Amino acid sequence: MDVMVALVELLLTTELYNKDLNFTVDDMPHHIRAHYWSAVDKTVPRPVYVTESDVKQIYGVDGIRESLATLPFVEFEEFGSLITLTVFDLAWRWFVKQPGAREVVGKNPVLSSYFEKKGLLNASYEAAKKADLPKEASRAWIDSLLADVTGEKDSDDMLKLVYISAPDEIEQSLNDLVLTEDQLEEISKIGRAIEYREYLKRIGLTDIGKLLFVGPPGTGKTSMARAISRELHLPLIEVRLSMITDQYLGETAKNIDRTFYLSKRLSPCILFIDEFDFVAKNRSSDENAALKRAVNTLLKAIDNISLVRDGVLLIAATNHPQLLDHAVWRRFDEIVEFKLPDLDMRREIFEILLRKIEGEIDTEELAELTEDYSGSDLRVVLRDAVLSALLKERTVLTQDDILKAIHSFDNRMNLKTREAVT
Ligand SMILES: Nc1ncnc2c1ncn2[C@@H]1O[C@H](COP(=O)(O)OP(=O)(O)OP(=O)(O)O)[C@@H](O)[C@H]1O
Ligand SMILES: [Mg+2]
Repeated sequence: MDVMVALVELLLTTELYNKDLNFTVDDMPHHIRAHYWSAVDKTVPRPVYVTESDVKQIYGVDGIRESLATLPFVEFEEFGSLITLTVFDLAWRWFVKQPGAREVVGKNPVLSSYFEKKGLLNASYEAAKKADLPKEASRAWIDSLLADVTGEKDSDDMLKLVYISAPDEIEQSLNDLVLTEDQLEEISKIGRAIEYREYLKRIGLTDIGKLLFVGPPGTGKTSMARAISRELHLPLIEVRLSMITDQYLGETAKNIDRTFYLSKRLSPCILFIDEFDFVAKNRSSDENAALKRAVNTLLKAIDNISLVRDGVLLIAATNHPQLLDHAVWRRFDEIVEFKLPDLDMRREIFEILLRKIEGEIDTEELAELTEDYSGSDLRVVLRDAVLSALLKERTVLTQDDILKAIHSFDNRMNLKTREAVT
């Protein structure tokens, strides 16, 4: 981005935010809000000041000083290195003439509101609100909620159990996943449920937002949970049931409670429970009293959490649906099936994996040769092919590289199944 446009965006935005108390912290564009976020106040406290180091941290640009001299409406105070606008009017008039201005304003509700009133840049406050990331998307937001939790009794034990990602840090995007119509519809439904949360609460439909992802390894369950977090801007709390299962009697049940408690504190968010079958096995077949208690705790915890009421979307994933009993199944309002990819899906997955790789590849043939491969297997094959090509100092991939990789993958699979039999 143009350094000058970035700087003037920052100066205009902060000045408008400082002056006009009608603007809330949600009106700030994500990058500025995250930078000035105060963990203690859970907002961006007024007044906001702009210094050279702020500009460097927000936009990653250096040497703002020299460029500043070219702008007649900006003043640099040596003392405290504060950057201020001298003539606001000159600043916005200069700004609207810059080539990048429209794009910047499109994601900046504060500026959009200002320019919409002036009928400039096609600005629309509503549209900018939609385009801007909400505060929940940033690490700063999560950290400020966690700051409240740390210090509470048990907090260290609690935080050890989970892995928390901020949506704007997640790289897995929905575009990189080949999903079925059903799976895509599930995502849209959840998006709507969040949007209409108040309405659903009012009509008493609170048992929404518990998804069970079912399917063999490597079919995209974890990837989809991460992509939903990114898409819907909800922090992702990941927990593996095997990790919170403790050999000590009672500790497992406590860990389950801790995890659900934490996710309510971080709401709105996604609680993603992987290896869900680990505790929720068929209870009648298990004699272990401690485990039974853990299962009951888990069921109760699921009952007591709701997307509509608490803002927590629960996603559980399992490779072994047959291990779950009826009491577990009926607690989920949607079962999302992940199958091994069919021919078309395999071709599409290959195409996605090859998107940034040079070479003339016939993905149709590859798809035909990889029946029963999971998405993750296809990824392994491609990685193998790329590395083999690199051994020969080639960064352009050939069909043969991938065919060989498929061949060696098949061999490996045969070895594995033979081992399993003996
Ligand atoms: N449908 C798909 N489209 C594109 N890529 C896929 C798909 N399924 C799997 N992959 C690839 O495989 C990798 C592993 O998938 P992921 O970890 O999401 O599977 P999983 O279902 O969670 O497996 P597990 O049950 O072992 O946890 C992903 O990083 C992704 O690149
Ligand atoms: Mg997984």
